[in-house]
Amino acid sequence: MELRSVEELMDLLYACRSALDAPGFPGGRRVDLHQHALRTAAVLRRSRPADKELQVAGLVHAIGPLLRPGDRTAHPDCAADAVRPLLGERVAGLVRGHRPDSGPADDDLLRLRQADEEGRHIGFAAGVLEDWRTVLELVAARNSRLGAVD
Ligand SMILES: [Fe+2]
Repeated sequence: MELRSVEELMDLLYACRSALDAPGFPGGRRVDLHQHALRTAAVLRRSRPADKELQVAGLVHAIGPLLRPGDRTAHPDCAADAVRPLLGERVAGLVRGHRPDSGPADDDLLRLRQADEEGRHIGFAAGVLEDWRTVLELVAARNSRLGAVD
């Protein structure tokens, strides 16, 4: 599945409200994916305020279970493939590499992995999804302009 609009992506992120991370997977933690997405993005907005793509990667990294329920190993690739056409190669690459066991990491990926972990535990108020609409639109617009150059 490929996401073609910010609206479609927002719908999917809203659908994460009732989803749990890796249901039934041994060692998988039960976490409200919608809150987890908002918290991960909020952590990154604080630590990397200028890097909208990194923040957006934090917001969308966890949509895999919605796209392919039950197939935990495929989740990062699924999520990356879904967001690539809309949000671009960098965001897709960050999403693909967000799990600590998925290979070597540069600074951005390390920051995302840290935020992912913090976004599971911290109980702070992370705002609402609507706060992210303009940021998503900005990253999507930038990506479509870059795509038009090819
Ligand atoms: Fe996560």
